[in-house]
Amino acid sequence: EPVIFTEKDEMRKWSRSMRSQGKTIELVPTIGYLHQGHLSLVDEAHKHAKVVVVSIYVNPGQFSPSEDLSTYPSDFHGDILKLKSVPGGVDAVFAPKNLYDYRESKKNEIDVDMENKNSCKKGVVSCVEERGIGHETWVRVEKLEKGLCGKSRPVFFRGVATIVCKLFNIVEPDVAVFGKKDYQQWRIIQRMGRHFTVPDPLFLARMIGMLLRDLDFGIEIMGSDIVRDRDGLALSSRNVHLSPEEREKALSISRSLLKAKSDAKIGLVNCKELTDTVVQTITHARCNRVIVEY
Ligand code: PAJ
Repeated sequence: EPVIFTEKDEMRKWSRSMRSQGKTIELVPTIGYLHQGHLSLVDEAHKHAKVVVVSIYVNPGQFSPSEDLSTYPSDFHGDILKLKSVPGGVDAVFAPKNLYDYRESKKNEIDVDMENKNSCKKGVVSCVEERGIGHETWVRVEKLEKGLCGKSRPVFFRGVATIVCKLFNIVEPDVAVFGKKDYQQWRIIQRMGRHFTVPDPLFLARMIGMLLRDLDFGIEIMGSDIVRDRDGLALSSRNVHLSPEEREKALSISRSLLKAKSDAKIGLVNCKELTDTVVQTITHARCNRVIVEY
């Protein structure tokens, strides 16, 4: 039976008592609606630490007002049952109601309102700011947060880095584990952590950058492999929203990348040709989708 905490002070007290008994703590941060991908992280966590804490918190700081915060799927009871089913279970679940300061004051609201107008213009506003909450301190990993997903989701990685920072300060773990499914997120968190253990020699070359200890957290960051569905799509809580056509379209990404990988292995190493094939496959899948729709 995991102990369930909703209050951050209680959570911290428990962690400190574990530490005083000489037990190492591993944190698995999630936003819930758990599936086998999350559970594989718990499995991984058991390999490194004595006790495992899973956090479940849908973080408004990483959603922009146009995203799906209010409809993000959740099933707390089901999540707890799933966590119990993992060999070794989990020792504690941290499921806070709110990790931001929602205190309201008229003056503050006006101030935040003004700021929101400005940040809205730049498109950089999260559900935390939108609600006029007195939270002002954000963690940004400035270069890494810009490319890839960061282009279309300007507040996302700032929200992730900030909430992970808060969770680290509350749970005070020795180790934390993240899935490589969200590769950019994993790289960003590594940047804040202590050091990097490399199970895969391919990543060795990148290690130097990772060794930087931007925020001096005494926490080891681990990465865990992607868990896929039978058709090859990475498991994700949001997959429930995909129609069969959209699923097929999503699959074109991993399929084309895997094809490029196997082509490269047999000596077809012309970068432009490889990239062109990947782009064509994905574009073709998108066109099919348009035909289906219209
Ligand atoms: P969430 O989407 O719930 O994912 C929690 C963790 O599970 C992340 O580290 C993610 O990479 C990992 N994960 C999800 N699907 C996976 C799969 N198919 N295979 C392997 N790992 C998988 O990512 C977040 O939550 C949030 O941004 C969070 C880090 C908790 C901050 O709010």
